[in-house]
Amino acid sequence: MINEVQFIIAVVNPSKIEARIICTNMEDKITKHIGVLYFSPTNTTKKICKAIALGMGAENPVDLNMTIPNFRTKLASNPNAILDDIDHLIIGAPVYSGKLPIQVIDCLKSINGNGKKCTAVVVYGNRDYGIALYQMVEILSNNNFNVLAAGTFIGQHSYSDIVPVAIGRPDKTDLDKAYNLGSEIRNTANYLSLEDIPVQRDMFSKSKNYNLIQPVFKSEKCNHCSICSKRCPINIISPETGNWLNQEVKKQCIGCMACVSSCKGKARFVRANFGMKLILKYILKKASVQRQEPLTVFHSST
Ligand SMILES: Cc1cc2nc3c(=O)[nH]c(=O)nc-3n(C[C@H](O)[C@H](O)[C@H](O)COP(=O)(O)O)c2cc1C
Ligand code: SF4
Ligand code: SF4
Repeated sequence: MINEVQFIIAVVNPSKIEARIICTNMEDKITKHIGVLYFSPTNTTKKICKAIALGMGAENPVDLNMTIPNFRTKLASNPNAILDDIDHLIIGAPVYSGKLPIQVIDCLKSINGNGKKCTAVVVYGNRDYGIALYQMVEILSNNNFNVLAAGTFIGQHSYSDIVPVAIGRPDKTDLDKAYNLGSEIRNTANYLSLEDIPVQRDMFSKSKNYNLIQPVFKSEKCNHCSICSKRCPINIISPETGNWLNQEVKKQCIGCMACVSSCKGKARFVRANFGMKLILKYILKKASVQRQEPLTVFHSST
């Protein structure tokens, strides 16, 4: 656990109750204000990013949830107001068809790091991380972030209701590895370059398309709790009815499964026909049987 560093937790903004960690055993006193900026419709990316933050010594990092469309708009319109106070940003996103989700690409392109340190993380469903981490580091480097560490981690595949893959991940082993990466970052001084970042090019990452499965809605099962509407990263679900805002917006659905995983009454679910199941089984054939392990990249200075 975190024992080699002494902390003073100070409330720096009483209205927001933020934790600021002051490491007092280092040669120069370092004040670390750690932020976690993540896109995570089914929460696996969020878990990994928080474990890394914990490894860095931040039990309550500043939570920056770019899954929420309003937050992405706010961040793009005034990034400095949100990021200025943060010394190190842990940035996480899932892998979609071997790439970063479009929403993440747009969001990251809209913020300038002004020399800020960061860690880049992608979480994939045990199949392939493609070019997603490379894309993330490229955008961050182009936008004046200094990337200290990077990693690919594994989360339960979003389409596990159809073909079970990486069930229950990230598990304890994954979270320990994420925590250890956080600990390593504290001893890391050299930045990464694009040449350090691994890629797994395949037909999905080469294509510009995203292969997705859209959920269906069964109104009889809906109790209008509006949770799915709050969780949808595209804002296309009516908070009143639980249904699509209209049939036209359905085309914008990115198949992220946030609504399906958050609906307790199973009013939102995936209905895969025989052909779809067969294709998905073929794509996830190896992923469903062979466990992949996290990969971390950093230059250790010790
Ligand atoms: C549209 C879509 C495409 C995906 N493509 C891939 C992929 O190319 N490789 C892979 O291993 N997992 C893929 N996944 C699975 C997710 O990357 C994985 O489940 C991840 O843990 C989801 O992150 P989250 O829980 O933060 O939403 C895909 C998921 C979706 C919804
Ligand atoms: S989460 Fe489920 S029950 Fe709640 S509004 Fe959405 S569809 Fe209806
Ligand atoms: S409606 Fe589509 S985009 Fe919105 S949460 Fe559900 S799967 Fe994701």
